[in-house]
Amino acid sequence: MSSVPDLTGAVTCASIWKSFGEGEAKVDVLRGVNFMAALGEMTFLVGPSGCGKTTLISIIAGLLAPDSGTVSLFGERLSLLAPRERILFRRQYLGFVFQQYNLLPAFTAAENVAVPLVAAGWGRENAIGKAREVLTHLGLAHRTELVPQLLSGGQQQRVALARALVHEPRLIICDEPTAALDHRSGESVMERLATSAIHPDRAVIVVTHDSRVFHFAHRIIEMEDGLIRSSKKIESLNQP
Ligand SMILES: Nc1ncnc2c1ncn2[C@@H]1O[C@H](COP(=O)(O)OP(=O)(O)O)[C@@H](O)[C@H]1O
Ligand SMILES: [Mg+2]
Repeated sequence: MSSVPDLTGAVTCASIWKSFGEGEAKVDVLRGVNFMAALGEMTFLVGPSGCGKTTLISIIAGLLAPDSGTVSLFGERLSLLAPRERILFRRQYLGFVFQQYNLLPAFTAAENVAVPLVAAGWGRENAIGKAREVLTHLGLAHRTELVPQLLSGGQQQRVALARALVHEPRLIICDEPTAALDHRSGESVMERLATSAIHPDRAVIVVTHDSRVFHFAHRIIEMEDGLIRSSKKIESLNQP
């Protein structure tokens, strides 16, 4: 019966259920998921295609409502906030990289990345300047003025990542962030995420199949068929 929020967890999910469809076609995609991502850590969520990973992180990010169960971010139950507060909380504290990137097609790379800053009240010039800086860090200095259609899949993936990082949110959630990247670009993206995660008041959640980058994980949580199957703390394996 404790109502004290868990302040050590960046994200705490308790007994999350989610189904899609109705009647005969109803599928229980999440079947009572308990999940925690700790502050200062990179938490990897792994598991076979279709096991519910994207559904779970969409619920954590507040893009999808669970049928039952609770989600807390930094001790705050988002579903209990007023709609306006919830929008502001998500805008300020959350960066999300979608599997399909979801870049705005009529905007340049720099303009896409500037969106969270403009939403936070930055002036356009400053926002574009900061966006170019983050894109340059991710190896895209020569691509900042192009629209997404003129970029490769890997370049679009890095633009989506830059957009999730630019406002330095406390929680970054990435869905398969290295899927379209070669080994070197994948490593540099993970290094950038690791830099965000080392802050004691921040956290990163990465959904991935990519075993080449598992050495960046502090914890690997394995999902199967709508349930968490195991959660392993990785001890010092990620030292060079
Ligand atoms: N909006 C939706 N409507 C119906 N079924 C869905 C929807 N989203 C996901 N599913 C189903 O839920 C299951 C889990 O999907 P998903 O969370 O995307 O898995 P993963 O990311 O692990 O591959 C899949 O069987 C998928 O077809
Ligand atoms: Mg998925």
